[in-house]
Formats: sequence, structure tokens, C-alpha cells
Amino acid sequence: MSEDHGDSANIAFVGCGNLGMAILSRAICSEVIDPATTVVIERDAGRQAEASRLGVRVTADAAAARGAQGVVLAVKPQHFLEAAQAIGSLSGATCVVSVMAGWSSAAIRAALSGGGSDGPRVVRAMPNMAAQVGLSMTAVARGAGATSDDVTAALRLFSAIGKAVEIPEALIDAAVAAVGSAPAYLYLLAEAQIAAAETMGFDAVTARAMTIESIFGAATLLATDGREPAQLRAAVTSAGGTTAAAVNVFERGEFVALVAAAMEAARARSAELGK
Ligand SMILES: NC(=O)c1ccc[n+]([C@@H]2O[C@H](COP(=O)([O-])OP(=O)(O)OC[C@H]3O[C@@H](n4cnc5c(N)ncnc54)[C@H](OP(=O)(O)O)[C@@H]3O)[C@@H](O)[C@H]2O)c1
Repeated sequence: MSEDHGDSANIAFVGCGNLGMAILSRAICSEVIDPATTVVIERDAGRQAEASRLGVRVTADAAAARGAQGVVLAVKPQHFLEAAQAIGSLSGATCVVSVMAGWSSAAIRAALSGGGSDGPRVVRAMPNMAAQVGLSMTAVARGAGATSDDVTAALRLFSAIGKAVEIPEALIDAAVAAVGSAPAYLYLLAEAQIAAAETMGFDAVTARAMTIESIFGAATLLATDGREPAQLRAAVTSAGGTTAAAVNVFERGEFVALVAAAMEAARARSAELGK
């Protein structure tokens, strides 16, 4: 994904939906990619129009990805084979960065090799939906044929939507549990807190505001304060006090084991979907 301004696109986005658009728009804003040498392959007319406004070339023809130095693969996993067929074969001169859950780098490489060549170099990445506000964490894994320079370029790309960290591909299903699915855990907690606050007598608007601001404030403190979560919890939990009463209920319900089991279920499901 180096800076080359030849005839073919430097970077091709295959699929530019929720995640692809977040990566594309933020990478352009932070000048990680140049819209003049970027092509977006997208079949949805509304999304095509949105991408066009960013100054990139837009087409529905996946063959436009051929010859690109970098291909960001951001279609749903169940649409990958159809997209791969439309792209055709890519050579080792291309680095494919896939954000799809399930598909291993070896399977992606094989599907894009056209049966003949070695196929493209492949990096896998697992961001989450906070990419939409530039606050994703992205786990990046060096896959089949990829070099350390490919990983460095991918880390730079995903830094445009938040923070990024390298992991081994063997841990990508665990990253689905720890990163990709993680926002939903907090939303579940928020749903439960809002419902409980309403039961206690707050109106819906107040219950929502109290919950969101409490989560936002606590998360900001956690991210900036330097103390561990257990230290921050201890700081607001005095023996026999109100927070201790609540934490005791969580502990009796084996909250820690429940979180571990939930994350393991996400990891196992990702592995099951894997190819
Ligand atoms: N969203 C997240 O927060 C998140 C987080 C981590 C990982 N991911 C992964 O990122 C990938 C994309 O997720 P998303 O939520 O962005 O999905 P999405 O909103 O459905 O975006 C995918 C886009 O690609 C288009 N598309 C599919 N096949 C195509 C083809 N052959 N040619 C041209 N365009 C094609 C789709 O069009 P149609 O709608 O017409 O099919 C859609 O507009 C998934 O693999 C997902 O697992 C997403």
C-alpha cells in the first residue's frame, strides 16, 4: 500500500457499507489514503453516491480491484465467494486486508489466486462499530504471504478509525470476542441499567441520560486515569456501602464467569464460521 500514482488504483475498497465507509472516510480525512488513487467497488446506489462525494472513483465492477496494490475487503462473509469470483485472480503484488470474520487468510488467498498463481498477500483485521466515531480498537493479524511491512501499513490504515494492535492470526477468533462483538456487551448492560432506572421511577429520557453519561464518564476515566479497573472499582466501593451492595449481587450471580462464558461463546462461534 505504498504511494504510487499509476493508472490502476493504489487502493481498492471492495464493499463500502457501514465499516468500509468508516475506514474510507476517516483514512481520507487523516491523509492515510489518497482519494485520487482509490477506487470503491460497491453495488448499492446510495453508498456509491456517498463514496463519490469523497472524491474516489466508484464502480460496481469488482474487476477494478485487479492491479491495485492494496485491496480492503469489507463485504459480509457470506458475500465473499461471489465478490472473489467477480474480482478474479490477484497476484502476490497485491496485499488484501480483510475485515471479514470467519474467512482465514489461507482461504482468502486461495479464493483469489485463480487456481494458478500464489495469490495475494493477506492481512486480517478485526475492528468494531466504534469505527463510525473514530474510536475502534482494531486487532491486525499477518496472514498468508503477508510481510511485516503489510502489517505496518494495515496498522496505519486502522489507526485512522481509532487504535490498532498486532495479534497472531491464531487469535483472530478471540479478537472477534474481545473487539468485534464487545460493543454489544456494553449495550446490553446499558439496556439493563436503563430498564432498572425506569423501574425505580425515572422517566425514559432521564434514565437514558443517567446511564449513558455514567458509562461514558466511567469509560473516559478508565481510559485516561492510568489505574486498573479493579483499582477504580475499589476507589468507589466502601465496605458496607451502596456500591458494595450492588457488587455483591453481581458476584453472587457469578458475573465474571458469565462474561468469560459469553466471550468464549463468541470466540467459538467465530471459529465455527471459519473456513
Ligand atoms: N460493522 C462493523 O462494525 C464490523 C466490525 C467488525 C467486522 N466487520 C466485518 O466487516 C464486513 C462488512 O461489514 P458491514 O457492516 O460494513 O457490512 P455492510 O454494511 O453490509 O457493507 C457491505 C457492502 O458491500 C456490498 N457488497 C457486497 N458484495 C459486493 C460485491 N460483490 N460487489 C460490490 N459490493 C458488494 C454490500 O452491498 P449489499 O448491501 O447490496 O449486499 C454492502 O453495501 C463484514 O464482513 C463484517 O463481518 C464489521
